[in-house]
Amino acid sequence: MRTRPLKVALLGCGVVGSEVARIMTTHADDLAARIGAPVELAGIAVRRPDKVRDGIPAELVTTDATALVKRGDIDVVIEVIGGIEPARTLITTAFEHGASVVSANKALVAADGAALHAAAQRHGADLYYEAAVAGAIPLVRPLRESLAGDKVNRVLGIVNGTTNFILDKMDSSGAGYSEALDEATALGYAEADPTADVEGFDAAAKAAILAGIAFHTRVTIDDVHREGLTEVTAADIASAKRMGCTVKLLAICERAADGASVTARVHPAMIPLSHPLASVREAYNAVFVESDAAGQLMFYGPGAGGSPTASAVLGDLVAVCRNKLAGATGPGESAYTRLPVSPMGDVVTRYHISLDVADKSGVLAQVATVFAEHGVSIDTVRQQGKDGEASLVVVTHRAADAALSSTVGALRELDTVRGVASIMRVEGE
Ligand code: NDP
Ligand code: HSE
Repeated sequence: MRTRPLKVALLGCGVVGSEVARIMTTHADDLAARIGAPVELAGIAVRRPDKVRDGIPAELVTTDATALVKRGDIDVVIEVIGGIEPARTLITTAFEHGASVVSANKALVAADGAALHAAAQRHGADLYYEAAVAGAIPLVRPLRESLAGDKVNRVLGIVNGTTNFILDKMDSSGAGYSEALDEATALGYAEADPTADVEGFDAAAKAAILAGIAFHTRVTIDDVHREGLTEVTAADIASAKRMGCTVKLLAICERAADGASVTARVHPAMIPLSHPLASVREAYNAVFVESDAAGQLMFYGPGAGGSPTASAVLGDLVAVCRNKLAGATGPGESAYTRLPVSPMGDVVTRYHISLDVADKSGVLAQVATVFAEHGVSIDTVRQQGKDGEASLVVVTHRAADAALSSTVGALRELDTVRGVASIMRVEGE
């Protein structure tokens, strides 16, 4: 074993960074044995130097992250600051100064992954980001490496721990939305700005990364159709229960049937209670990958939190350090297919639509006619009347999202339709 240590700069020492530092210290001997050389924490960049940090040697802490990555003797930079800047400049500077980079930053990789990969390649460095998608679950490396000989057609799953935690609490204990979000934040699951979680930006970033790797193409967060869970009401959850379903925030990336394009989307959806995703509780994540040769694979585990995420970061650290010692680099970007990303209107799925209508004769026929005129076939209708008004729940067969949108537009024009209470996609059947 080499005795000279590989030097690691840790950028960020919050929920994830503090766990990375802890495990690097407590598992130092095992890490050294697995890598073939000791790894030494050479510096830790933070924003607030005076914050009390248990187990963190004060002499390693600095507020000058730029000077740390420019030192010239750093072998690996671990970026767990988050956000676009200064993370992007720090990572690029790290490559320029000969370091490889491990990052947990899905926002940055989803926005600028191609440029970062190009910078890494230019400087003969690695860029690894297993922790950026689904916390502890090995997903990026299986897609990038284990499935590199297969053809992936679909990736579907729960990739945000915070929103799954909120939906689970609302569904199982009747907790309120804000109360559940506060708990998820206190447990370290939420992003620095939890809007990223509840509005679906975090899951959309992960969907972009997964789609890009799975389909060997370039997908950025701007290509991903995104709806968060702020519009999901207790009534939606109750309605899902009546249908034998539950509501989950799903990320779905698909290759079109003709193979000529892909789609990527994040939105709340009803899934049957019998589907494995329905039993994913708390901040756990689960992702199905469907491919030509392997068939269906399911990846499941803790999707957020300091320690689970640190596990993924350290796995990358070991891989990148091994590459350094071998004088090699791991796989870079694979985007040779250059498949276009189709708009949401092209996506075909089922829908659950809840309408408030006048409770009088002919209304049901009128509503059914609008669906038929737009080529959307109805599967089931449930009507509940009360004081001259009725609530109508329509579940459709599979239809294009554009056709469903036009249907809803036309329904809103009907005098007898008082309002469209909710529209939710139905997946997993
Ligand atoms: P935190 O907000 O807990 O930690 C961020 C850290 O970055 C803090 O230590 C902060 O310093 C430091 N920091 C912020 N700005 C600067 C700066 N300009 N220069 C130097 N240091 C700075 O975030 P998390 O640990 O939760 O997340 C980090 C990354 O990991 C993000 O990209 C996130 O998306 C990702 N991630 C998080 C997961 C989770 O469950 N939390 C799971 C998977 C990925 P200070 O301590 O002084 O404030
Ligand atoms: N905020 C993210 C989540 C962290 O809740 O899933 C893990 O990426």
